[in-house]
Amino acid sequence: MASNLKRTFVAVLCCVLVVAGVARGGNFYQDMDVKDGGGRAKIQNGGNLLTLSLDRESGSGVQSKKQYLFGRFDMQIKLVPGSSAGTVATFYLSSPPQGPHHDEIDFEFLGNVSGQPYTVQTNVFSQGQGNREQQLRMWFDPTLDFHTYSIVWNPTHILFYVDGTPIRDYQNREATTGVPFPARQAMRVYATLWNGEAWATERGRVKTDWSRAPFVASYMGFAASGCASSQDVPTCARSDGAWMHQELDTTAQARLRWVQKNSMIYNYCADTWRFPQGLPPECK
Ligand SMILES: *[C@@H]1O[C@H](CO)[C@@H](O)[C@H](O)[C@H]1NC(C)=O
Repeated sequence: MASNLKRTFVAVLCCVLVVAGVARGGNFYQDMDVKDGGGRAKIQNGGNLLTLSLDRESGSGVQSKKQYLFGRFDMQIKLVPGSSAGTVATFYLSSPPQGPHHDEIDFEFLGNVSGQPYTVQTNVFSQGQGNREQQLRMWFDPTLDFHTYSIVWNPTHILFYVDGTPIRDYQNREATTGVPFPARQAMRVYATLWNGEAWATERGRVKTDWSRAPFVASYMGFAASGCASSQDVPTCARSDGAWMHQELDTTAQARLRWVQKNSMIYNYCADTWRFPQGLPPECK
């Protein structure tokens, strides 16, 4: 009897945890609008799963209904399996696209030929200027399972995480360098899958194998908490907490150094060939 009770309790507890997990994971019907792709972006399983597909004609994508100024954003992604060269899956934040004061915080996943490793690229645009790429070789096969990719954005840091491991800490150095930090406008969250054949795989040398199309990337567990606007920041900074003041403690800094030492394949801050006049001021 006691063990039955215990079993029931465990079953109920599991259930509660699963439900809580789903609730935290949000619902794509409620959180996102399908933006591009004429039916190629599909919300499924009652809103828990989003699949994006890409073929020769078109890619696909969604954008969040809400806008955020600072916040924490998590997405679980299972990348395009098999031959994925030339495909680019994304999870990013963007101010209204293409203005001269455009801000953007990017995760981009560059596919590869079958069996070859994926590259994860991060980038930060502020006031229309990007060119701040870092690239890592994924240290696991991101096509076999869902993994969690997170962006924490607050007034002093933009932190990128893969399964809770920090992979980049982009800091606000505006006061000392004059390089603008994205902090003036709200952004929406986007997830897209598009054709990057012209540049993504070895600068366009490796072409997409369109006989394998459609390519499909799967997304779930979207969670976002952030301020809605600049008026909202003072209140939400006080109440919402953790991410607003988040930075890397010494343990997290050590993990970041480990990742960068073992997996980084490109860092714009080390690219003296690209910046012959001197590295960008925020790199120093
Ligand atoms: C694809 O794999 C090759 C060989 O391992 C590697 O050199 C290249 O950088 C990879 N490309 C991308 C886009 O990850």
